[in-house]
Amino acid sequence: MSSISATPDKLTVSNLKKVFKTQNSDVVALEGVNLNVKDGEFVSIIGTSGCGKTTLLRVVAGLESDFEGEVSLNNKKITAPGTDRAVIFQDHRLFPWFSIEDNISFGSTEKNSAKKRERIQHYVDLVGLKGFEKVYPGQVSGGMAQRAAIARALLGKPDVLLLDEPLGALDALTRMYMQNELERIWKEEASTMIMVTHDIEEAIYLSDRIVIMSNRPGTIKRIVEVPLARPRDRASYDFTVIKEEVLKEFNLEAQSAFYYTI
Ligand SMILES: Nc1ncnc2c1ncn2[C@@H]1O[C@H](COP(=O)(O)OP(=O)(O)OP(=O)(O)O)[C@@H](O)[C@H]1O
Ligand SMILES: [Mg+2]
Repeated sequence: MSSISATPDKLTVSNLKKVFKTQNSDVVALEGVNLNVKDGEFVSIIGTSGCGKTTLLRVVAGLESDFEGEVSLNNKKITAPGTDRAVIFQDHRLFPWFSIEDNISFGSTEKNSAKKRERIQHYVDLVGLKGFEKVYPGQVSGGMAQRAAIARALLGKPDVLLLDEPLGALDALTRMYMQNELERIWKEEASTMIMVTHDIEEAIYLSDRIVIMSNRPGTIKRIVEVPLARPRDRASYDFTVIKEEVLKEFNLEAQSAFYYTI
């Protein structure tokens, strides 16, 4: 953590406000969001459903243009999607008619060459899909398909990987395994990751910091640091202490969301 806190900010979000204008009313999705993320950091975002987590990722991805405030990556204002960012969604969004390998290389504008094939193989190996290059998404498990989506995102060498509930569709055991895999990939690629999750344990297991958002309009309620050595022990006392702290904060927000909707 000490080396991370000494590095400059990679991503800065300042006074972000996002309003969706609909036929009937304006929906204020985000308001007064301020967040700085350092190079190489793993940051998780948690919050109740509809609080604006996906919207925040979409703004950083450059998929939303009409917002107030400023969002910068490497001191450059974000106004559109770019190869410096990649997004991974809850569903893998692979093309069923392309092989795993072709899905991974899809979107790459690099000319076909031995160097490119070597890079594709590097990412196939990195996500543990060696031997499955020629099969189709329908012939692999959900975890394997999600790993292919991760490889596809990493192939473009993004500065920041944005993950929106990437493991949400997996069963509990595969999910735990994939958390280990995600941590390994994060370390090996030394990438910066920002992940939305509904799973508090997952956030503690993987993150340097956990951003807890308020109910909509989403703003940052609290940021919890996770100064535990890796790999983390989910059953350890220190892990549980942080879990209690995050749960307390999160439950307060979830309860008020519930009262608000009844
Ligand atoms: N394209 C859109 N048009 C209008 N309103 C939208 C649009 N996208 C999102 N919203 C609204 O903005 C708010 C935040 O949505 P968002 O998808 O960011 O929530 P979320 O925190 O990701 O929720 P979940 O945990 O359920 O995925 C919600 O009230 C949603 O209805
Ligand atoms: Mg969402």
